[in-house]
Amino acid sequence: MARRIVITSGKGGVGKTTFTANLASRLAKRGLRVCMLDLDLGLNNLDVIMGVENNVVFDVVDVVEGRCRLKQALVRDLFCNSLYLLPSCKNADKGKISGQNVKVIVDRLSCIFDYVLLDCPAGVGVGFHRAVSAADEAIVLTTPTLTSVKDAKKVVGILQNYDLISTTTVVNRLRGDMVVGGEMMDAFEVFSMLGQKPLGIIPDDDNLSFCIAGEYTKNMPSDTAFEMVATNLHEGTEYMYDCLSKYSGFFGNIRRKIKRRA
Ligand SMILES: Nc1ncnc2c1ncn2[C@@H]1O[C@H](COP(=O)(O)OP(=O)(O)O)[C@@H](O)[C@H]1O
Ligand SMILES: [Mg+2]
Repeated sequence: MARRIVITSGKGGVGKTTFTANLASRLAKRGLRVCMLDLDLGLNNLDVIMGVENNVVFDVVDVVEGRCRLKQALVRDLFCNSLYLLPSCKNADKGKISGQNVKVIVDRLSCIFDYVLLDCPAGVGVGFHRAVSAADEAIVLTTPTLTSVKDAKKVVGILQNYDLISTTTVVNRLRGDMVVGGEMMDAFEVFSMLGQKPLGIIPDDDNLSFCIAGEYTKNMPSDTAFEMVATNLHEGTEYMYDCLSKYSGFFGNIRRKIKRRA
Protein backbone atom coordinates (compact mmCIF):
# COMPACT_ATOMS: atom_id res chain seq x y z
CA MET A 1 0.00 0.00 0.00
CA ALA A 2 1.20 3.50 -0.83
CA ARG A 3 2.14 6.22 1.60
CA ARG A 4 -0.50 8.89 1.07
CA ILE A 5 0.88 12.32 1.77
CA VAL A 6 -0.83 15.69 1.47
CA ILE A 7 1.32 18.77 0.78
CA THR A 8 -0.32 21.79 2.34
CA SER A 9 0.49 25.29 3.61
CA GLY A 10 -2.37 27.57 4.53
CA LYS A 11 -1.01 30.54 2.62
CA GLY A 12 -1.01 30.36 -1.18
CA GLY A 13 2.03 30.76 -3.40
CA VAL A 14 4.56 29.33 -0.95
CA GLY A 15 5.63 26.60 -3.37
CA LYS A 16 3.40 23.55 -2.70
CA THR A 17 3.00 22.58 -6.34
CA THR A 18 6.69 23.13 -7.13
CA PHE A 19 7.62 21.09 -4.07
CA THR A 20 5.19 18.26 -4.91
CA ALA A 21 6.57 17.96 -8.45
CA ASN A 22 10.18 18.00 -7.35
CA LEU A 23 9.73 15.61 -4.45
CA ALA A 24 7.73 13.21 -6.64
CA SER A 25 10.37 13.14 -9.36
CA ARG A 26 13.18 12.55 -6.81
CA LEU A 27 11.28 9.59 -5.31
CA ALA A 28 10.43 8.17 -8.74
CA LYS A 29 14.07 8.42 -9.85
CA ARG A 30 14.83 5.85 -7.13
CA GLY A 31 12.56 3.39 -8.89
CA LEU A 32 9.59 4.02 -6.60
CA ARG A 33 6.16 4.17 -8.21
CA VAL A 34 4.80 7.63 -7.53
CA CYS A 35 1.50 9.29 -8.40
CA MET A 36 0.76 12.99 -7.91
CA LEU A 37 -2.83 14.07 -7.53
CA ASP A 38 -3.55 17.71 -8.36
CA LEU A 39 -6.37 18.73 -6.03
CA ASP A 40 -6.26 22.43 -6.77
CA LEU A 41 -9.46 22.01 -8.78
CA GLY A 42 -9.95 24.59 -11.50
CA LEU A 43 -6.36 25.86 -11.24
CA ASN A 44 -4.40 23.02 -12.80
CA ASN A 45 -0.71 23.72 -12.22
CA LEU A 46 1.04 20.39 -11.78
CA ASP A 47 0.58 19.36 -15.41
CA VAL A 48 2.13 22.69 -16.45
CA ILE A 49 5.12 22.36 -14.10
CA MET A 50 5.68 18.77 -15.28
CA GLY A 51 5.49 19.90 -18.93
CA VAL A 52 2.66 17.45 -19.73
CA GLU A 53 -0.22 19.89 -20.13
CA ASN A 54 -0.68 18.89 -23.77
CA ASN A 55 -0.87 15.19 -22.87
CA VAL A 56 -3.85 15.64 -20.57
CA VAL A 57 -7.02 14.03 -21.97
CA PHE A 58 -9.07 13.32 -18.83
CA ASP A 59 -8.89 14.70 -15.29
CA VAL A 60 -9.82 13.72 -11.76
CA VAL A 61 -13.42 14.95 -12.15
CA ASP A 62 -13.86 12.83 -15.31
CA VAL A 63 -12.82 9.82 -13.22
CA VAL A 64 -15.28 10.66 -10.43
CA GLU A 65 -18.12 11.24 -12.88
CA GLY A 66 -17.42 8.04 -14.79
CA ARG A 67 -16.36 9.56 -18.14
CA CYS A 68 -13.17 7.49 -18.09
CA ARG A 69 -11.40 4.80 -16.11
CA LEU A 70 -8.80 5.81 -13.53
CA LYS A 71 -5.88 4.44 -15.56
CA GLN A 72 -7.03 6.35 -18.67
CA ALA A 73 -6.69 9.63 -16.79
CA LEU A 74 -3.16 9.03 -15.50
CA VAL A 75 -0.50 10.97 -17.40
CA ARG A 76 3.04 9.58 -17.45
CA ASP A 77 6.00 11.85 -16.78
CA LEU A 78 8.18 12.82 -19.74
CA PHE A 79 11.40 11.56 -18.15
CA CYS A 80 10.55 8.90 -15.62
CA ASN A 81 8.31 5.96 -16.36
CA SER A 82 7.40 5.29 -12.72
CA LEU A 83 5.99 8.79 -12.19
CA TYR A 84 2.36 9.63 -13.00
CA LEU A 85 0.00 12.53 -12.57
CA LEU A 86 -3.75 12.53 -12.09
CA PRO A 87 -4.53 16.05 -13.34
CA SER A 88 -6.90 18.59 -11.91
CA CYS A 89 -9.72 19.97 -14.04
CA LYS A 90 -9.21 23.28 -15.85
CA ASN A 91 -12.67 24.49 -15.17
CA ALA A 92 -13.53 25.74 -11.65
CA ASP A 93 -17.24 24.90 -11.75
CA LYS A 94 -16.39 21.34 -12.72
CA GLY A 95 -14.81 20.96 -9.30
CA LYS A 96 -17.81 19.64 -7.40
CA ILE A 97 -16.34 16.44 -6.04
CA SER A 98 -16.45 15.37 -2.41
CA GLY A 99 -13.81 14.26 0.07
CA GLN A 100 -15.26 10.75 -0.17
CA ASN A 101 -14.80 10.80 -3.99
CA VAL A 102 -11.13 11.71 -3.53
CA LYS A 103 -10.69 9.07 -0.83
CA VAL A 104 -12.00 6.34 -3.15
CA ILE A 105 -9.58 7.41 -5.90
CA VAL A 106 -6.64 7.58 -3.49
CA ASP A 107 -7.51 4.12 -2.14
CA ARG A 108 -7.39 2.72 -5.67
CA LEU A 109 -4.13 4.52 -6.47
CA SER A 110 -2.63 3.17 -3.24
CA CYS A 111 -2.84 -0.37 -4.59
CA ILE A 112 -0.65 0.39 -7.62
CA PHE A 113 1.81 3.01 -6.31
CA ASP A 114 4.39 3.33 -3.51
CA TYR A 115 3.64 7.01 -2.94
CA VAL A 116 0.54 9.11 -3.61
CA LEU A 117 1.27 12.82 -3.19
CA LEU A 118 -1.73 15.13 -2.91
CA ASP A 119 -1.15 18.73 -3.96
CA CYS A 120 -3.52 20.78 -1.79
CA PRO A 121 -5.10 24.12 -2.74
CA ALA A 122 -4.39 27.21 -0.62
CA GLY A 123 -6.53 28.05 2.37
CA VAL A 124 -8.39 25.89 4.85
CA GLY A 125 -11.69 25.59 2.98
CA VAL A 126 -13.46 22.71 1.27
CA GLY A 127 -10.51 21.92 -1.01
CA PHE A 128 -8.17 21.64 1.96
CA HIS A 129 -10.48 19.22 3.80
CA ARG A 130 -11.05 17.22 0.62
CA ALA A 131 -7.31 16.68 0.25
CA VAL A 132 -6.39 16.12 3.89
CA SER A 133 -9.16 13.62 4.57
CA ALA A 134 -7.72 11.30 1.90
CA ALA A 135 -4.19 11.35 3.37
CA ASP A 136 -2.38 9.52 6.17
CA GLU A 137 0.53 11.97 6.45
CA ALA A 138 0.92 15.72 5.94
CA ILE A 139 3.80 17.93 4.93
CA VAL A 140 3.25 21.58 5.86
CA LEU A 141 5.23 23.96 3.71
CA THR A 142 6.02 27.53 4.66
CA THR A 143 8.27 30.34 3.55
CA PRO A 144 10.28 32.10 6.27
CA THR A 145 7.95 35.08 6.53
CA LEU A 146 5.71 35.87 9.49
CA THR A 147 2.43 35.70 7.57
CA SER A 148 3.27 32.39 5.99
CA VAL A 149 4.46 30.86 9.28
CA LYS A 150 1.35 32.13 11.07
CA ASP A 151 -0.91 30.46 8.49
CA ALA A 152 1.16 27.27 8.59
CA LYS A 153 0.78 27.19 12.38
CA LYS A 154 -2.98 27.50 12.00
CA VAL A 155 -2.93 24.60 9.54
CA VAL A 156 -0.84 22.49 11.94
CA GLY A 157 -3.56 23.10 14.56
CA ILE A 158 -6.36 22.10 12.18
CA LEU A 159 -4.46 18.97 11.11
CA GLN A 160 -4.63 17.75 14.68
CA ASN A 161 -8.35 17.13 14.15
CA TYR A 162 -7.50 14.53 11.51
CA ASP A 163 -6.32 11.02 12.06
CA LEU A 164 -2.85 11.53 10.57
CA ILE A 165 0.15 9.33 11.30
CA SER A 166 2.59 12.24 11.00
CA THR A 167 2.88 15.93 10.25
CA THR A 168 6.25 17.28 9.17
CA THR A 169 7.36 20.75 8.11
CA VAL A 170 9.46 22.20 5.30
CA VAL A 171 10.85 25.73 5.01
CA ASN A 172 10.90 26.80 1.37
CA ARG A 173 12.67 29.73 -0.32
CA LEU A 174 15.21 30.32 2.42
CA ARG A 175 17.85 32.92 1.50
CA GLY A 176 21.10 32.27 3.30
CA ASP A 177 22.41 35.78 2.57
CA MET A 178 19.36 37.35 4.24
CA VAL A 179 19.41 35.02 7.26
CA VAL A 180 23.10 35.78 7.88
CA GLY A 181 22.32 39.50 7.43
CA GLY A 182 19.51 39.27 10.02
CA GLU A 183 16.80 40.15 7.47
CA MET A 184 15.10 36.76 7.37
CA MET A 185 14.08 34.19 9.98
CA ASP A 186 16.28 31.12 10.21
CA ALA A 187 14.67 27.79 9.28
CA PHE A 188 15.20 26.37 12.77
CA GLU A 189 13.36 29.33 14.28
CA VAL A 190 10.45 28.51 11.95
CA PHE A 191 10.57 24.82 12.86
CA SER A 192 10.41 25.63 16.56
CA MET A 193 7.46 28.00 16.00
CA LEU A 194 5.57 25.24 14.19
CA GLY A 195 6.46 22.60 16.77
CA GLN A 196 6.45 19.70 14.30
CA LYS A 197 9.21 17.47 12.99
CA PRO A 198 11.37 19.22 10.33
CA LEU A 199 11.52 17.41 6.99
CA GLY A 200 13.73 19.79 5.06
CA ILE A 201 14.97 23.21 3.98
CA ILE A 202 14.76 24.33 0.34
CA PRO A 203 16.75 27.41 -0.73
CA ASP A 204 15.30 30.19 -2.81
CA ASP A 205 16.41 29.28 -6.30
CA ASP A 206 16.12 31.91 -9.02
CA ASN A 207 15.96 29.37 -11.84
CA LEU A 208 13.37 27.05 -10.37
CA SER A 209 10.33 28.62 -12.01
CA PHE A 210 11.77 28.07 -15.49
CA CYS A 211 12.35 24.36 -15.04
CA ILE A 212 10.31 21.28 -15.64
CA ALA A 213 10.60 19.41 -12.36
CA GLY A 214 13.27 16.80 -11.92
CA GLU A 215 15.11 16.66 -15.20
CA TYR A 216 16.22 20.25 -15.66
CA THR A 217 16.75 21.16 -12.03
CA LYS A 218 19.97 19.11 -11.94
CA ASN A 219 22.98 21.08 -10.62
CA MET A 220 20.81 23.84 -9.23
CA PRO A 221 21.13 24.66 -5.50
CA SER A 222 17.63 23.36 -4.86
CA ASP A 223 18.46 19.97 -6.41
CA THR A 224 20.57 18.83 -3.44
CA ALA A 225 17.91 20.13 -1.05
CA PHE A 226 15.10 18.21 -2.80
CA GLU A 227 17.26 15.06 -2.80
CA MET A 228 17.73 15.46 0.96
CA VAL A 229 13.98 15.82 1.52
CA ALA A 230 13.29 12.70 -0.56
CA THR A 231 15.88 10.74 1.47
CA ASN A 232 14.49 12.01 4.77
CA LEU A 233 10.97 11.06 3.75
CA HIS A 234 11.83 7.64 2.40
CA GLU A 235 14.60 6.55 4.75
CA GLY A 236 13.81 8.51 7.92
CA THR A 237 17.13 10.42 7.92
CA GLU A 238 17.37 14.02 9.10
CA TYR A 239 19.53 15.78 6.50
CA MET A 240 19.06 19.55 6.35
CA TYR A 241 20.36 21.68 3.48
CA ASP A 242 22.83 24.27 4.71
CA CYS A 243 21.94 27.65 3.19
CA LEU A 244 24.10 29.66 5.60
CA SER A 245 27.75 28.62 5.48
CA LYS A 246 28.15 29.90 1.91
CA TYR A 247 27.47 33.40 3.27
CA SER A 248 29.49 33.21 6.50
CA GLY A 249 33.09 34.32 7.09
CA PHE A 250 35.24 36.60 4.94
CA PHE A 251 34.43 35.13 1.51
CA GLY A 252 30.83 34.59 2.55
CA ASN A 253 30.55 38.27 3.31
CA ILE A 254 31.73 39.13 -0.19
CA ARG A 255 29.28 36.61 -1.70
CA ARG A 256 26.49 38.15 0.37
CA LYS A 257 27.29 41.65 -0.93
CA ILE A 258 27.34 40.39 -4.52
CA LYS A 259 24.02 38.56 -4.03
CA ARG A 260 22.43 41.67 -2.50
CA ARG A 261 23.42 43.69 -5.60
CA ALA A 262 22.13 41.07 -8.06
N1 LIG B 1 12.48 27.25 -3.72
C1 LIG B 1 12.01 28.15 -4.59
N2 LIG B 1 12.83 29.12 -5.12
C2 LIG B 1 12.37 30.03 -5.99
N3 LIG B 1 11.10 30.09 -6.42
C3 LIG B 1 10.23 29.18 -5.94
C4 LIG B 1 10.62 28.17 -5.00
N4 LIG B 1 9.53 27.41 -4.71
C5 LIG B 1 8.51 27.94 -5.42
N5 LIG B 1 8.92 28.98 -6.15
C6 LIG B 1 8.09 29.83 -7.04
O1 LIG B 1 7.00 30.35 -6.30
C7 LIG B 1 5.86 30.47 -7.14
C8 LIG B 1 4.68 29.79 -6.49
O2 LIG B 1 4.94 28.41 -6.44
P1 LIG B 1 3.79 27.32 -6.46
O3 LIG B 1 4.47 25.99 -6.38
O4 LIG B 1 2.85 27.53 -7.58
O5 LIG B 1 3.05 27.65 -5.08
P2 LIG B 1 1.67 27.10 -4.49
O6 LIG B 1 1.40 25.79 -5.14
O7 LIG B 1 1.92 26.98 -3.01
O8 LIG B 1 0.65 28.14 -4.82
C9 LIG B 1 6.24 29.87 -8.49
O9 LIG B 1 6.57 30.92 -9.37
C10 LIG B 1 7.46 29.03 -8.17
O10 LIG B 1 8.34 28.90 -9.26
MG1 LIG C 1 -0.32 25.11 -6.18
